[in-house]
Amino acid sequence: MTDLRLETLSAATVVAANNLTLKPGQEQYVAPVSHSIAEAYVNPTTAWPRVVLDGDEVVGFIMGNFDADADDESLRSCIWRVNVSAEHQGRGVGRFAIHALAGEARSRGFDTLTVIYEPGDDGPERFFAHIGFEVVGETPYGEHLAALTISPTPQGE
Ligand SMILES: CC(C)(COP(=O)(O)OP(=O)(O)OC[C@H]1O[C@@H](n2cnc3c(N)ncnc32)[C@H](O)[C@@H]1OP(=O)(O)O)[C@@H](O)C(=O)NCCC(=O)NCCS
Repeated sequence: MTDLRLETLSAATVVAANNLTLKPGQEQYVAPVSHSIAEAYVNPTTAWPRVVLDGDEVVGFIMGNFDADADDESLRSCIWRVNVSAEHQGRGVGRFAIHALAGEARSRGFDTLTVIYEPGDDGPERFFAHIGFEVVGETPYGEHLAALTISPTPQGE
């Protein structure tokens, strides 16, 4: 657990990222990782896809999107997805990944990180709330838009 690190998604890790498991009930809240990998491939200039490694094991995947010119302000510095393999959830991997993405956003000059997710019992709402996201809006489909204010200096990252 002390050895968590991020690496760029690569040929060496793409299969493990695509095979990350979910807990029962979570699959309805998140598209398959392969969707994000395809999105990263077609949006190479804005997508920021990273695997989380614990030692040599891929235990999570996070993808951000950074596009200072996006018309929709909520899509300029945002999380496209985050997931942690079922057996490694609850150990701080998700928090580590979000903090790393927030650090990347800060280094690019953003002061906010946003995420859109579906509310529900097995969904990620309480996780995002726990690490400091606040619900700031709702999409026409009933999804929540939440935002994390990024402090100008790293805090616990
Ligand atoms: C959401 C998800 C990424 C969280 O990852 P994780 O590694 O289990 O989370 P962490 O262990 O880092 O949790 C960080 C904190 O949030 C809390 N937390 C996490 N999930 C929680 C939940 N469902 N309810 C309440 N608190 C929760 C933890 O207790 C922890 O608190 P602590 O630091 O005070 O101990 C993971 O559950 C997941 O992959 N879910 C399925 C995919 C998904 O829904 N992704 C989001 C779509 S964008």
